[in-house]
Amino acid sequence: MVERLQKVMAEYGVASRRKCEELITEGRVKVNGQLVTELGFKVDKEQDQIEVDSKVLKPQEKKVYVLLYKPVGYITSAKDQFNRPTVLDLVQDIKERVFPVGRLDYDTEGLIILTNDGELTYRITHPKHNIDKTYTALVKGRVTSEDVVKFRQGLLIEDYKTSPSKLYIIKASLESSLVSITIHEGKNRQVRKMCSAIGHDVITLKRISIGDITLGNLQKGSWRMLTQPEIDYLYKLGGNTND
Ligand code: URA
Repeated sequence: MVERLQKVMAEYGVASRRKCEELITEGRVKVNGQLVTELGFKVDKEQDQIEVDSKVLKPQEKKVYVLLYKPVGYITSAKDQFNRPTVLDLVQDIKERVFPVGRLDYDTEGLIILTNDGELTYRITHPKHNIDKTYTALVKGRVTSEDVVKFRQGLLIEDYKTSPSKLYIIKASLESSLVSITIHEGKNRQVRKMCSAIGHDVITLKRISIGDITLGNLQKGSWRMLTQPEIDYLYKLGGNTND
């Protein structure tokens, strides 16, 4: 069966489908010894030999799906120009080469999924799928019901209007408020920017769920494998990408 090169690369666990597209256009991928830089290129994974950075891809033995409670002070990319700790440092016991699904800021803690399943990564990070992500945030100042309305109506952050999102006040005092925020977009530092836009800078931020998958009582810095029903649920949530 012939399939798009980036899809097959993601299945082999190279990275997410989008990241694989970058690798192709950067000229780092060869098929049967020939450099391929176009994204429409199709391959037969039974027959064609794919190389990334001159390393031949081999079919992956086992897909793994990890739910990690990322502490503050770790980055979610695999490598960092400043040599800061990465989330991969926390899952060294896992022998498969996993990568994070989406990102969390260095100064944000909470739920992040790691996997070597590029297809699932693609599905759940694709912007068209609108998957709810819920955070608890401690913010400066007293959050009011007017702020709740502003979140519901969408906010202007820089030149971008956010889609309607949910703000729920857990407790509020003059100095600070604890709130729960649910968004389904994933712009860079979106929750922080939204809170600043209503005059309540974030003090601490924690992601507690993606869809129905929650942190539960996992300890900070620890991880567990996702259950099969959770994996099936995420596949369903990510929908059909039709390509
Ligand atoms: N929004 C943010 O501002 N930071 C995160 O890490 C995630 C969402």
